[in-house]
Amino acid sequence: MGAALDAVGPVALDLGSGGGLPGLPLALAWPGTRWFLLDGSIRRAEFLSQSVTALGLDGRVTVVAERAELAGRGELRSTVDAVFARSFARPAVTAECASPFLRQQGLLVVAEPPGGQPDRWDDRGLAHLGMRLGSRLVEPTAVQLIVQVTPCPERFPRRVGVPSKRPLF
Ligand SMILES: C[S@@+](CC[C@H](N)C(=O)[O-])C[C@H]1O[C@@H](n2cnc3c(N)ncnc32)[C@H](O)[C@@H]1O
Repeated sequence: MGAALDAVGPVALDLGSGGGLPGLPLALAWPGTRWFLLDGSIRRAEFLSQSVTALGLDGRVTVVAERAELAGRGELRSTVDAVFARSFARPAVTAECASPFLRQQGLLVVAEPPGGQPDRWDDRGLAHLGMRLGSRLVEPTAVQLIVQVTPCPERFPRRVGVPSKRPLF
């Protein structure tokens, strides 16, 4: 998954990081990278902060304890080279929550079910967000890449909860 960082740049965000996957191992494996581990659960964010300190990553890994729909309208908007998501939400929600963070030509990297399921994604739905489907890997881990072709339109993300109540595709 982390090879995406070689392709696009060193600033990454782990969307719905939970216990730190995949952000913490990727931050350890790619020493030249800067990370934001975002999670809307305060309890999980506290655990993440403790893990970051225990691993000696304080200088380049920041925990963001906020809902993605809110943080996507903050100072991280359009600043990130690659957003990583593993078990975050269904594809439309993942795309809408990730897109606001990505700079133009940035990459969304999504861990997929074993074997990959490209028909989970809808190119016309992604186009509303300025995104398009990129390449996918099946081995060693199934991963779908999505490219932020143009900046995320101002109207996204919608209010907290709306991306999952009224998914774009
Ligand atoms: C199923 S866990 C996956 C955690 C980790 N990525 C993994 O693979 O083990 C999903 C995480 O996303 C967080 N989450 C879900 N929706 C969110 C949102 N809209 N904004 C921020 N965090 C969210 C949850 O709090 C939870 O920690």
